[in-house]
Amino acid sequence: MPAPFIRIRGLTKHYQMGNTIVRALDGLDLDIEAHTFTVVMGPSGSGKSTLLYLLGGLDRATSGEISVDGARLDQMDENALALFRRRTMGFVFQSFNLIPSMSALENVAFPMQFAGVTPAQRSLQARTLLGQVGLDNRADHRPNELSGGQQQRVAIARALVNNPSLILADEPTGNLDTSSGGTVMQLLSDLHNAGRTVLVVTHDPRMTRFASHKIFLLDGRQVSEAEYQSAALESAQAS
Ligand SMILES: Nc1ncnc2c1ncn2[C@@H]1O[C@H](COP(=O)(O)OP(=O)(O)OP(=O)(O)O)[C@@H](O)[C@H]1O
Ligand SMILES: [Mg+2]
Repeated sequence: MPAPFIRIRGLTKHYQMGNTIVRALDGLDLDIEAHTFTVVMGPSGSGKSTLLYLLGGLDRATSGEISVDGARLDQMDENALALFRRRTMGFVFQSFNLIPSMSALENVAFPMQFAGVTPAQRSLQARTLLGQVGLDNRADHRPNELSGGQQQRVAIARALVNNPSLILADEPTGNLDTSSGGTVMQLLSDLHNAGRTVLVVTHDPRMTRFASHKIFLLDGRQVSEAEYQSAALESAQAS
């Protein structure tokens, strides 16, 4: 059997805080197949963002293995990791992370300058990507001249710049109302249907309807949906 697209074994991320150790991830084993849409759910502090950052090579694990598309991220040096990240992954964050002084078009075109693309090509490709997220008519708007949902769509267009096979999104709808959140999830779902592998962290149970797979985290470990639900119920009763 071929290896899964994402393979995680014994993954831990520990933080030493004075005399205590925070176990953000505490021995995670995970297989995720290519072309799936996986939703990661879990209460605040359960390790969702930590998982996404490690998968994206934005941070280093304390121990354990992470492979993406057959490549061992945990064995790469910083340069190899940066290159791999740029070729393989696109990131979408809750807070959009757009550059305020740049137009939508410039925001999308910006990362292409590191890939040696000419300015004319950058602008052409950025326009095409903005078209794909339905924002052809907002190319010249700056972030503060766009709605939250539109800003997130610009961020998604930017994430697509290097045609990544893996899209990682950390609460992409967290700052959006239900309707624009739905549009953003639909867009991520379209990317999945176009053949990409998508991994989305979300608090919002409504977003799971787009998912082909669900992962539940509690205290840095994977749990079953039933364990997750009963923990959620307990914490609701306690508050
Ligand atoms: N730099 C850090 N130093 C110390 N502890 C950290 C650090 N980053 C995260 N943690 C801790 O690790 C745990 C997991 O954090 P993480 O950000 O992955 O949670 P999360 O599931 O994304 O939560 P949320 O839903 O609130 O975003 C938390 O208990 C957090 O306090
Ligand atoms: Mg988080």
